[in-house]
Amino acid sequence: MADKAKVYGSVGQEAKAAAPASMPCIMVIFGASGDLTKRLLVPSLYNLACDGLLSDNFAVLGCANTEMTSEDFRTRMSGEEDGIKKFHTRKEFDPAPWDKLVSRFHYQPCGFDDKDAFARLKETVAKLDAQYQTGGNVLFYFATAPSFFGLICDNLYYAGFRDGPGWKRIIVEKPFGKDVKSALKLNKELLAHWDEEQIYRVDHYLGKETVQNLLAFRFSNGMFEPLWNKNYIDNIQFNVCEVVDVQGRGGYYDSSGVLRDMMQNHMFQMLAYLCMEPPASFQSDAIRNEKSKVLQSVRIYDKDEVPQYAVRGQYGPSFDDSGNVDKPGYREEKGVNPESNTETFAAAKLHIDNWRWEGVPIYLRSGKGLWKRGTEIVVEFKKAPEAIFKGTPIDQLASNRLVFHIQPYQGIELLFQAKIPGPTMALQKVDMRFSYGDAFKASRYTGYEVMIYSCTHGDGTLFSRGDLVEAAWNIAQPLLDHWESNKAEGFPNYTRGSWGPRAASELIERDGRHWYEVVTPDVLEKSPLFKGADPLLLNSIILALRSHDVPQDEVIIRRGDVAGEMYLICRGEVEVIDVNGKVLKTLKDGDFFGEIGLLLPTPRTATVRAKTLCDLFVLDKSDFSRILQDYPQFAGEVMKVAKERYDVVVSAEQLMAKD
Ligand code: BG6
Repeated sequence: MADKAKVYGSVGQEAKAAAPASMPCIMVIFGASGDLTKRLLVPSLYNLACDGLLSDNFAVLGCANTEMTSEDFRTRMSGEEDGIKKFHTRKEFDPAPWDKLVSRFHYQPCGFDDKDAFARLKETVAKLDAQYQTGGNVLFYFATAPSFFGLICDNLYYAGFRDGPGWKRIIVEKPFGKDVKSALKLNKELLAHWDEEQIYRVDHYLGKETVQNLLAFRFSNGMFEPLWNKNYIDNIQFNVCEVVDVQGRGGYYDSSGVLRDMMQNHMFQMLAYLCMEPPASFQSDAIRNEKSKVLQSVRIYDKDEVPQYAVRGQYGPSFDDSGNVDKPGYREEKGVNPESNTETFAAAKLHIDNWRWEGVPIYLRSGKGLWKRGTEIVVEFKKAPEAIFKGTPIDQLASNRLVFHIQPYQGIELLFQAKIPGPTMALQKVDMRFSYGDAFKASRYTGYEVMIYSCTHGDGTLFSRGDLVEAAWNIAQPLLDHWESNKAEGFPNYTRGSWGPRAASELIERDGRHWYEVVTPDVLEKSPLFKGADPLLLNSIILALRSHDVPQDEVIIRRGDVAGEMYLICRGEVEVIDVNGKVLKTLKDGDFFGEIGLLLPTPRTATVRAKTLCDLFVLDKSDFSRILQDYPQFAGEVMKVAKERYDVVVSAEQLMAKD
């Protein structure tokens, strides 16, 4: 009884007209009194209802240990403080679709080990099936700890849920095991009485439009696929930065770590989409077969090789200007072992040993407590031959990059070089940008809508499969083993709010490459000079930034020198020193200095020296002036900000002066 897959694409605004409503069914949620239900599942159902994508023949049956009536459940989900009014993602809350939806919510208490309760559940589902005419279709959503998955599966089977008309499908939440062994065991438990086609393993990254678009981008555009291989691509970087800490989940996180929490699932799913072979069709198994194949081609390291290919990190506290702890380090988080060896950051270099990707390094990096929130995939192409430019002022070419901005900014960007207008051959980085926000008017979704929706249609494309999960664990296992048996030295090894441990840069620098840091408008806006600036201005500035490494102890700005540029510290620490040699303050990752250099060519009032090796971004006054010449409408605003925030009086002519 293989489920027939259909792909309707997005369930966003534009796709709505093309997409039929979800299939009739009763959705039984185990763990209905928990966080996931109120924060994500119910708001997703509400979004589907608002967009006319939820069948009229649909009802929810919440189940959990908690004693509650259906009326209590409805009241709870409707709540101002802790219900839909708080968690909905629409611009405005519309009560009409909610009232209709919530009237179809029911609840029945159920101990997951209580066979009688499952027998009663069977009767209730039968009644609801008759009431809502759902044709016997039941979607079981396991929003519980994975330790209950096997038990619930068994009890559903023994209660006779497999029999009868209609389809029965089970959605399970992550984590799906904590290593190869436990994942295989869990798979076995799920498949003891149910078929693989009935099991839908959630990876919420697959619910993200920008992740789904990786496939659309690759396979609906003829121009990129011919370049998509070792002949043209130098390396690929996957970057998932989070600012947040463990957010009260210290207990769970301390037994997990970033490799299990982000890489083995979300990042490997993105890797599979980006690097898989073209599928024979968009049928779910055709896609998942290719994903599985590419993950199986990733080289499995020997335990002893791990230090060569992977580094780990753990965040320590951040400090305020007076040196007091501002935010706690990982080991001080609630539920975390004060001597924890768990990694909150990891970077790895992988190889895909197949015909297409042989020799193309795949770099991955993810962590919590970092300088910015941003998920990006950077495809770096091989450089054009520089020799052609011999005899021109150009001594170095930048490589072309295709950047998939997954979140929070959603878009795709192609970076290349163009000639600066004028009599000489000079180049400047420019970009072509597609922004989801500008192109589409889709509502903000949680990501779960499309998963619930496609599960009702029997489309498993957006879900992981047993063999995929296993292949992903196989890649992660040697890292887990090595890290488990070797205590991390120097933990914590990065400051909260920084760009991660230095070792991550060394990992890639050994190959003569750099992490491509995507500076976002949010990062620039941390400088008072750019706070609240127009996005067009911010984007032009981002493009004009050039990176610059400074060795420890080198002077970056000398007191008395004429100012001519601004700096953003990418990684490292600098000291600001006064006329008497006194250190006034220390600046670190994510901090700015020298902004006045963009406004006026005045003498510097302090010296700035690299306290450690520093990776900097530099914005030259000449580039800033050129941007303002291109967009003179922003000069007035910059003049105002200069006066208000820096007490600098500057004219538009001075701002736009060439040097
Ligand atoms: C979850 C992890 O799967 O993904 C969290 O358990 C993490 O630790 C989250 O913060 C990130 O998801 P998103 O959608 O915010 O990138």
